[in-house]
Amino acid sequence: MKTRIIGTGSCLPDMVVTNDALSAIMDTSDEWISSRTGIRERRLVKEETTTSMSVAAAKRAMENAGITAQEIDLIIVGTITGDYVTPSTACQVQAALGAGKAVAFDINAACSGFLFALHIADAYLKSGIYKTALILGAETLSKIMNWNDRSTCVLFGDGAGAAVVRSERTGLLAYDQGSDGARGAVLTCRNRENNNPYVKNPVEPDYTKMDGQEVYKFAVTTVPASIKKVVEEAGLTIEDIDYFALHQANIRIIQSVAKRLKAPETKFPTSLDHCGNISAASVPILLDEMNRKGLLKPGMKIVLSGFGGGLTWGSAVLEW
Ligand code: ACO
Repeated sequence: MKTRIIGTGSCLPDMVVTNDALSAIMDTSDEWISSRTGIRERRLVKEETTTSMSVAAAKRAMENAGITAQEIDLIIVGTITGDYVTPSTACQVQAALGAGKAVAFDINAACSGFLFALHIADAYLKSGIYKTALILGAETLSKIMNWNDRSTCVLFGDGAGAAVVRSERTGLLAYDQGSDGARGAVLTCRNRENNNPYVKNPVEPDYTKMDGQEVYKFAVTTVPASIKKVVEEAGLTIEDIDYFALHQANIRIIQSVAKRLKAPETKFPTSLDHCGNISAASVPILLDEMNRKGLLKPGMKIVLSGFGGGLTWGSAVLEW
């Protein structure tokens, strides 16, 4: 038996913020952002939260899968921007869905969060501990951006994506994941600093900082290697893959990965033009868009790949 994605869902906030709209409030331009990244607009929250978008995405995935909340054994949310330190986003989703028998927890693997959640769910399902899992990537990245730092804030957006997975005849064929904490300093956002009666630190929150060029180098070397490895492990070739659904960081990273794999760019669908980079939510949102457009047919071979902060990366080959 294999872990199969049987339903997908996603939720984006209502507010659309174009590159031109950003140019009105900071020193940037549509030309700079779109030529370097492929991003034309992103959605940012007003009333929505990481939890509310997660619940909406989860409900759509459950409806798409045709399952009830009582059938869910496990809920995992990949996020770095939960609304609370505790309870976890996953526990809040569980409560909102009424998924009383599920065990629920969050994981932090930044932009690889959905891929890591998929692999954890796969391990539980394969071991027979659980039968049905709801996995999500959900982020409100706009709250950890320094809106005075044009080099980072223009790149990111908010949203949530979800998938229901279950043991079936076909599904996940192979998996690769990795971490390189030694290079973690290239993409950071510090949590609260030590603060007690004996240690005083500033209470101002930290914001996302990135060495864009180092992240670029990491992505264009690690991602093709990880994809080649996982495709080979699945007993397939790059030509056998129908679609590569990659983390939506930057169109130039996606183009470079396509070139290094010698695969046509038409096999790399994108959502970054209208979503920006939504970290852990990028891959499940893209997958849901592909699913709802009817691009995914039974038997197709799909590669999913996430990469980012940690540093972390994960790739999977699925038979749809
Ligand atoms: N608008 C206008 N000008 C800008 C902006 C902006 N939003 N941001 C930076 N600039 C300016 C800089 O000030 C600099 O000006 P200067 O030459 O006068 O000093 C110039 O543009 C070049 O800045 P760089 O930071 O060197 O820009 P670069 O060409 O490296 O492009 C980018 C930045 C797009 C982030 C690039 O490094 C990249 O593609 N990185 C890949 C990593 C990535 O996309 N990360 C996303 C998140 S990480 C993840 O999800 C894995």
